[in-house]
Amino acid sequence: MTGAAAVAPPVMRAAVIHRYGGPEEFRTETVPEPGAGPGRVLIDVTLAGLNYADLHCRAGEYQRHPLPAVLGADVVGRRRGDRRRVAALLRKGGGYAQVVCAEEALTVEVPDGVSDEQALALLEQGATAYGALTLLGRLRPGERVAVTAAAGGVGHLAVQLARELGAGRVVGLASTVTKREFVRSLGADAVLDPADPQLAARLGESGGVDLFVDSVGGAVLRSGLAALAPFGRLLCVGARGGPEESFSVAELADGSAGVLGFWLQHLLDDRTLFAGVAEHLFRLAQERRLVARIDRVVPLDGVAGAHRAMSGRETMGKVLVDVRRESRDGATAQKPVPRTGDR
Ligand SMILES: NC(=O)c1ccc[n+]([C@@H]2O[C@H](COP(=O)([O-])OP(=O)(O)OC[C@H]3O[C@@H](n4cnc5c(N)ncnc54)[C@H](OP(=O)(O)O)[C@@H]3O)[C@@H](O)[C@H]2O)c1
Repeated sequence: MTGAAAVAPPVMRAAVIHRYGGPEEFRTETVPEPGAGPGRVLIDVTLAGLNYADLHCRAGEYQRHPLPAVLGADVVGRRRGDRRRVAALLRKGGGYAQVVCAEEALTVEVPDGVSDEQALALLEQGATAYGALTLLGRLRPGERVAVTAAAGGVGHLAVQLARELGAGRVVGLASTVTKREFVRSLGADAVLDPADPQLAARLGESGGVDLFVDSVGGAVLRSGLAALAPFGRLLCVGARGGPEESFSVAELADGSAGVLGFWLQHLLDDRTLFAGVAEHLFRLAQERRLVARIDRVVPLDGVAGAHRAMSGRETMGKVLVDVRRESRDGATAQKPVPRTGDR
């Protein structure tokens, strides 16, 4: 025999889709590790996060990646080389895997006193909530804020951050009694059911709303617009489309109202801004002034069940994937795993 034996490329486990569709499309497979490149870092992932946009990606409705694809937009783990604990956002997916190749500019170190779970729950959804409230919503102390899907990943952080930023009154919308109790526990002054036929009137109590942060769209968004106080802003972080989401300038001028649309990508485009927001969120977490709720941690082969739970509106707070663990039967994959220290 002559020549050196070929070195097998490093492999990892990942949740992969081979076609767009429902949660049943996820397969847990052994695939090649991604390679590093200029301006990029390899991360040995401990936890990956779920975001609502992942559901749209999986269905082929948003950011269609080449197939087969690994979805997942946020991770926490150890950076290859210096083994520092880092969290990263991934613009092109790849998160539901044991190794990711992340943009250096979107990778931040996680400080002591902030757990992996908290860091991951805060980075994407926290930056969305904070960016929406401050950069675009321009929330001023004393203003009245309402937040839709207030028990959700973005929403439960937006409620706490609105309080932190000095909002005068915070109203949270959530679809079940359990969710509303949770939103109250976050410091909301009032909670409302988005299905309440009197929603606009109830939102309009106490003088109306100065900043309505909406991730639901449709009729709820319309109620928010109707409830705005003069000079109020309707801020959309997630729209569903449809006729209710069209406005005339005359209609807005009648109420001295503004409609705004927020996209996190623009915050991510500014490395300094992103790093500053992440640092601020982590500091709040260290001081326990911002606490993310971990809804559940599922193993890698529990991604499908986690997607089902999120689209079924069952989740409160952040859903995490422990990419180093597999249940192999899919059953335990869907069970919530309580974590001490988290709400
Ligand atoms: N603009 C951006 O850059 C940006 C960045 C991140 C996230 N987002 C958006 O922010 C929103 C929240 O994201 P997230 O990851 O934190 O998700 P999430 O809020 O944890 O989950 C979605 C929640 O939306 C509510 N909802 C209302 N109508 C629904 C429906 N028909 N089907 C399913 N859920 C419905 C549910 O709460 P209730 O049952 O209480 O109604 C559900 O729990 C999403 O729209 C997401 O796309 C936008």
